[in-house]
Amino acid sequence: MVNKDSQNRESNVQLNLAGYDQLNTLIRENSFSKVFILVDSNTHEACLPLFLPKLETTLEIEIIEMEQGEEIKTLETCDSIWKVLSELEADRKSLLINLGGGVVTDLGGFVAATFKRGISFVNVPTTLLAMVDAAVGGKTGVNLDSLKNQIGVIRPADLVLIDTQYLKTLSANEMRSGLAEMLKHGLIRDEDYWTRLINLKDLDAHDLDDLILESITIKEDIVSQDPSEKHLRKSLNYGHTLGHAIESYFLESPTKSKLLHGEAIAAGMIMETFISMLQCGFPSEKQERISKAIINIFGAIPLNEEDFMQIKNLLKFDKKNEKGNINFVLLSDFGKPEIDCQVSNENLDNACSYYLNLN
Ligand SMILES: NC(=O)c1ccc[n+]([C@@H]2O[C@H](COP(=O)([O-])OP(=O)(O)OC[C@H]3O[C@@H](n4cnc5c(N)ncnc54)[C@H](O)[C@@H]3O)[C@@H](O)[C@H]2O)c1
Repeated sequence: MVNKDSQNRESNVQLNLAGYDQLNTLIRENSFSKVFILVDSNTHEACLPLFLPKLETTLEIEIIEMEQGEEIKTLETCDSIWKVLSELEADRKSLLINLGGGVVTDLGGFVAATFKRGISFVNVPTTLLAMVDAAVGGKTGVNLDSLKNQIGVIRPADLVLIDTQYLKTLSANEMRSGLAEMLKHGLIRDEDYWTRLINLKDLDAHDLDDLILESITIKEDIVSQDPSEKHLRKSLNYGHTLGHAIESYFLESPTKSKLLHGEAIAAGMIMETFISMLQCGFPSEKQERISKAIINIFGAIPLNEEDFMQIKNLLKFDKKNEKGNINFVLLSDFGKPEIDCQVSNENLDNACSYYLNLN
């Protein structure tokens, strides 16, 4: 159980690790009218029975279940949840608790931020990825068809409650997916953290607490310096320009099996580190080590040249783009991000060829 507290004053997010007391105090002190808990089909079964006994309130509690999975992160799902909230007479003093992975916290946060112009919400992330990244920092939103996170707002949760007990039922693949975002934190901030992650023997929930806390601290520190993503916060998108395009490509393909978010980001980090070496002087020896380490953990996604043509087309929808330019975050070294970099077609093609040759 993680047992350290941290406070993000800038965004007013109170991050309380394993803080059920904090949650119960929040509910007691805010005279909420009703509590709604948003779960997906898996967290309903695996996490809700652990969560409910921790809630100390006499308020009426309503459970809202959505299906699981990235395909469900859409405005249509929001629409059905807004309607359920309305039918159940949610008002502006209602509290929404998002109990789930990044899909539930992204979508639930957006639902709460927009329902009746905004109700309070709490994130209780239940995947590694949501604990170290998605549930923290206030980005909420949904996909537009298969295009990632095109609709959304930045609105920090009233509380983010991390309890690593939930990880006990998470599959090994989903744990690995979360590791990708932790590795990103190492790349953009701290080589020593990266090295410790790479040398982990396994991804058991045991012993992960300190590493999770470190990731959250890195993210919170960056977000607190640039909450509305004008500059430094963009570094958290490392690996995501190509990673999101790959994820969208698999999401929209009728024939390809779905990729997990972290798997796509892992491939994105390999290619963007390669481009960093070509363009920003990222040391080539480190670039090779990073590539090998990521492939050792995630393997290479089976892709061909035709796939990359389509993936490159999807780059034009990236949220960081401005005035028709595709903006990448690159690195000149571990912990040295360069923001709003334009990448030539040639370097992009070289990175794609490099990745193809890893297969
Ligand atoms: N807002 C942000 O800053 C941010 C950052 C990174 C990623 N994201 C988003 O997060 C999403 C990915 O999040 P994710 O990887 O958590 O995906 P997810 O929410 O789809 O969860 C992965 C799977 O694990 C299941 N699950 C969740 N908790 C479980 C538990 N404790 N035991 C068993 N099964 C459990 C879910 O039902 C789902 O099937 C993507 O949509 C991505 O865009 C957002």
